[in-house]
Amino acid sequence: MNVHITGLGYGLPARRVTNEELAKTIDTTDEWIFSHTGIRARHIVGPEESSATLATSAAKMALARAGVKPEELGMVVVATSTPDYGAFPSTACLVQRDIGAVHAGAFDLFAACTGFIYALEAARSLMQNDLRPALVIGADVMSRITDWKDRNTCVLFGDGAGAAVLQASDRPGGIRHSILRADGKGAQALHHEGGCRTPQTGPWQGAYLQMNGRQVFNFAVKAFEEIVRDLIARQGITLSEVRWIVPHQANVRIIEAAARRLDIGLDRFFVNIGDLANTSAATVPMALEQLHREGKLQADDTVILAGFGAGLTWGGSLVQWQG
Ligand code: ACO
Repeated sequence: MNVHITGLGYGLPARRVTNEELAKTIDTTDEWIFSHTGIRARHIVGPEESSATLATSAAKMALARAGVKPEELGMVVVATSTPDYGAFPSTACLVQRDIGAVHAGAFDLFAACTGFIYALEAARSLMQNDLRPALVIGADVMSRITDWKDRNTCVLFGDGAGAAVLQASDRPGGIRHSILRADGKGAQALHHEGGCRTPQTGPWQGAYLQMNGRQVFNFAVKAFEEIVRDLIARQGITLSEVRWIVPHQANVRIIEAAARRLDIGLDRFFVNIGDLANTSAATVPMALEQLHREGKLQADDTVILAGFGAGLTWGGSLVQWQG
């Protein structure tokens, strides 16, 4: 029994914020941001929007494209670091309610920017026991945990959600291999206060993500290369047989450095960070959706999805695309 991705969708806030707009409120320039990250703009939520609302939009699009009714779903998994509620209910339960997945279980999964890769593998594994379709979503509203006065971090992030419908079938291909890795020794490199370690005496809502940019950059380049090399080794193929690499979109320079280390052209990587910035768990499914929407995926293409981020976590999935 194989598990295929049969529908993809995305959810983006309507409001688009360019680098020039940011430069009006912080000491930065479009030139600095673009040359250091590849980012030109990002989408930012309005007061009524949240991870759940973006995830629900993405889910409805993915379900319609897959031709799967919400009531057919067996599981809804949402990877997010910015749940609608601090502890509970899960964002997945809100999505399950709002799409009408009345027979599905639902849970959140927390692996930062690697979240979609973790969620994909969790859902694929669960489907070995329950053959009903599953919905896997990466959704993050980074703008709500970002200090908009800190030019070192606020220029990097955006908000969005990407969703994938998984269906079991005897057709060959689909999700072939996944690798999930973690190294908690790097926990402080990228973190956000507000959990049970934070004293209740102050408003934790004021806490912003903290990042050691250089440390994260160096980790990401190594992790990215490792994911690609491990996946092709496990599958017994060479890099020349991989049509697309769809990476987490954190910084175009991370992708360029990984391309150099892997000694392959940048044209094999799908990059859409320019318009969307780093939307954490949403980057990989939104990039895959755009790749598919633009007609760049053919049946039987081998695609590597690769993620890396806070935790530290990293991981990847090798997919033989069936469309
Ligand atoms: N505008 C103008 N100047 C800036 C800005 C800005 N927005 N941000 C930083 N600078 C300045 C710094 O203050 C510093 O000035 P100084 O030398 O006077 O102190 C200078 O630019 C250079 O700073 P560096 O940190 O050396 O710049 P670097 O080339 O390393 O780029 C960056 C910084 C973009 C953050 C890079 O380290 C990076 O991309 N790291 C990875 C970040 C990342 O991917 N995070 C998320 C991944 S995991 C996840 O997605 C959750």
